[in-house]
Amino acid sequence: MGHNRWVVLVGLLALAACEAPVEPDDPEDPGYDWQLPAGVEPPPVPADNPQTAEKVELGRHLFYELRLSKNLNRACGTCHEQAKAFTDGFHRAVGTDNDLHGHNTPALANVGYRAQLGWRSPTPDILERQLLVPLLGDDPIEMGMGGNEAQLLELLAADPLYAELFAAAFPDAPTDVSLTQLAQAIAAFERTLISVDAPLDRYLRGDEDAITPAAKRGWALFRSDQVGCVRCHGGLDYASPTNAAGEVVAEAGYYNIGLYNLDEGAYPDSAQGLIELTGEASDMGRFRVPSLRNLVYTGPYMHDGSVISLEGAIDIFAAGGRVITSGPYIGDGRANPHKSPEIQPIELSPDQRSDLVALLLALSDERLVEDPALASPFK
Ligand code: HEC
Ligand code: HEC
Repeated sequence: MGHNRWVVLVGLLALAACEAPVEPDDPEDPGYDWQLPAGVEPPPVPADNPQTAEKVELGRHLFYELRLSKNLNRACGTCHEQAKAFTDGFHRAVGTDNDLHGHNTPALANVGYRAQLGWRSPTPDILERQLLVPLLGDDPIEMGMGGNEAQLLELLAADPLYAELFAAAFPDAPTDVSLTQLAQAIAAFERTLISVDAPLDRYLRGDEDAITPAAKRGWALFRSDQVGCVRCHGGLDYASPTNAAGEVVAEAGYYNIGLYNLDEGAYPDSAQGLIELTGEASDMGRFRVPSLRNLVYTGPYMHDGSVISLEGAIDIFAAGGRVITSGPYIGDGRANPHKSPEIQPIELSPDQRSDLVALLLALSDERLVEDPALASPFK
């Protein structure tokens, strides 16, 4: 935004102060242009954080802003990198002080549609609150800004670029530069991380040639009674449990898929799933079903990044769990007493395995990783 525009903006802000704010359902207000294919609804938006282009633009800057981390080395976009479909390529995330996180960094495409966030926690469930965890949290330290909020906000308010972006994004409270505004803007940007244009999407919208014959066979297997991946990986994001009719029955599901079996079914101390919150033995190893979109870009896989390849992931589901034969995590995950009864051995020929891989590859959306609207403004 040039200097002139800024002057105009200040003028407009002064005017706006005398007028009632425009309500999002005002018929005069065209609303936010989500640019979605026909039939795809935008994600839900909280009533107190209406989506605007100006807020998204501020949020995009903040998402890629290294000054949001203690050692200036971790923006949101460092761990959630666009080229990797908003993951980092590490087994487990590494914070600003080099603290190793217990979990693999999840992909953020379609995160605005998710009712539950985090690998093992049904809370915090709102983007505006979630981001305070990496920003301010200390267990583990991710961005390390806890206790430095005031300095951060002062620094942003003193930067002419941010003063301008905040004022444009929050015309009703232009001088605030508060943590609430920062969170609302980043969340608004996150809601634009939408991926619904993979080859499989286009195939399901009627383009017969969008996917290969192998992927078509894989799609049939994925939904078949025999293989049944869709029982857990259904819905828009291939991350929601479904019933026999293929209808989504819950936004998120939590399962132990038999990756480990240490002592009496224990998972490694670094990440044990829902049990860390509930203390219930039966919650050992239960993690949220991840989205199967954009897997080409998001490896390594699983809550701890312990699976390197898609072939490896499919082998685990075919075997009904993972057998580890050496090293500290030796054990037969197939026999984990807390494993979901839904995870049972499946007979899959080598051809069927490669058809399933072809299907998973058809869920990767090039537009997401190349879209300049989602890229860092600082390059
Ligand atoms: C050090 C790397 C790192 C940084 C920096 C980071 N994240 Fe994350 N992010 C993660 C990891 C790891 C998880 C998984 C957390 C868990 O389940 O315990 C996660 C989870 C999330 C989720 C939940 C996604 C889901 O589907 O479960 C969102 C949303 C998110 N991060 C957004 C952000 C935003 C916004 C920022 C910047 C304020 C940010 N992250 C900074 C690593 C990072
Ligand atoms: C009972 C529910 C369930 C079924 C059935 C199921 N999955 Fe999963 N899937 C999960 C859960 C839960 C995870 C994460 C487990 C973890 O990290 O501990 C997962 C993880 C994955 C991952 C890793 C994704 C990532 O980003 O880390 C892939 C790939 C995958 N599943 C593919 C499949 C395929 C293919 C099938 C069918 C053969 C299938 N799943 C069947 C629940 C299920």
